[in-house]
Amino acid sequence: MILAEKTNFDFNGDDRSYLTHSLHPYPAKFPPQLPQKLLTLYAKQGQIVLDPFCGSGTTLIEAKLQGINAVGVDVNGLACLLSKVKATAFQNIDYQEVIFFIEKIKNIILDIELGNILTIKPKEIESLNHWFQHNVAQEITTILNEIDKLENQTVKDFLKIVLSSIIVRVSNQESDTRFAAIDKKIANSFTLNLFVNKTKEYLTRLMEFSEKITARTTTEIFNADSRKLDFIKPSSIDLIITSPPYANTYDYYLYHKFRKRWLDLDVKFAQYNEIGSRREFSSLKKAPEKWNKDLILCFLEMNRVLKPNGLAFIVIGDSVIKKNLIKIDEVIRGFSKEIGFDILDIVSSDLAKHSRLFNPSFAQKGKQEHLITLKKY
Ligand SMILES: C[S@@+](CC[C@H](N)C(=O)[O-])C[C@H]1O[C@@H](n2cnc3c(N)ncnc32)[C@H](O)[C@@H]1O
Repeated sequence: MILAEKTNFDFNGDDRSYLTHSLHPYPAKFPPQLPQKLLTLYAKQGQIVLDPFCGSGTTLIEAKLQGINAVGVDVNGLACLLSKVKATAFQNIDYQEVIFFIEKIKNIILDIELGNILTIKPKEIESLNHWFQHNVAQEITTILNEIDKLENQTVKDFLKIVLSSIIVRVSNQESDTRFAAIDKKIANSFTLNLFVNKTKEYLTRLMEFSEKITARTTTEIFNADSRKLDFIKPSSIDLIITSPPYANTYDYYLYHKFRKRWLDLDVKFAQYNEIGSRREFSSLKKAPEKWNKDLILCFLEMNRVLKPNGLAFIVIGDSVIKKNLIKIDEVIRGFSKEIGFDILDIVSSDLAKHSRLFNPSFAQKGKQEHLITLKKY
């Protein structure tokens, strides 16, 4: 029990939203204190940490803050864009460009308030009229067109993430988790105003984050499938900190569907390559063995890219597939040795006890979450 003795993983009550961690919704994030603590204990400045399921970039942000190089991989294009924005420090010039952009949008708002209604044709996206009011679609299109005119890619990506963060609020979708279409009666210029306010809020967060970055590090992010990490050299990674999907729990590719349509991000790649999705195990009714097979492929790749004696910290939860409870710690115990990992430690928690630690919606049917420590031998 190396870790349980050395560290305390009960982050109940800790602020999870500091610096850029709160930017943009993303499901099943782990608490930033987890990678923060593990990086402090097990990584040195200049080393490389990998998160092969980087999601919203929690590990990458913490690595940047500690002067550690990071590689993030996610099958979901929006996750990659979000990770990039959250873990990239702004320079003063970027800040000034955003302030200038806000003024531009404020002028458009002023024009609308003076009675000059927008005449722009909304961008064509699938099911536009069902999910978006005409005035909202026009305002989103206006923001996108203004972003397109910019040259600074860091600023463009930041503004896209701000826009993406308000898409569900201004759509007819009831909420991030409820897919019913309702009439929200969104007034003219509401979308533009919300965008301006969010831009200011996110800019403050990003500047606070940027001021804390002192060391020069690299953060590389790949929109790829972690069953094939052939773009990462063998034995090149010092440490892995990650949380793969919990099988049959989410469809990450569906969660940000409208956002991706507006931002022209690919949906199909994530749809067909996401492992452990509800689509695979509830809709397509794949057997539990498919989950084990996919996990083994990912673990083989993690083993290949880690340096000898390198550690991998995996946060993962049990699941139910075809009414069978899959105790994932036992599954991983079963295959680890054979593929080159020693198991150093498994800390398990009932969600009832640690409901703020990982994913509260998961506290059911005897399922547990585990923090598994592996060492490449
Ligand atoms: C539990 S979430 C990770 C959340 C992350 N720790 C955070 O704090 O934001 C799991 C992630 O795995 C990604 N994923 C699923 N299948 C994948 C695959 N084959 N390759 C890479 N990423 C994948 C999903 O898109 C999702 O972002």
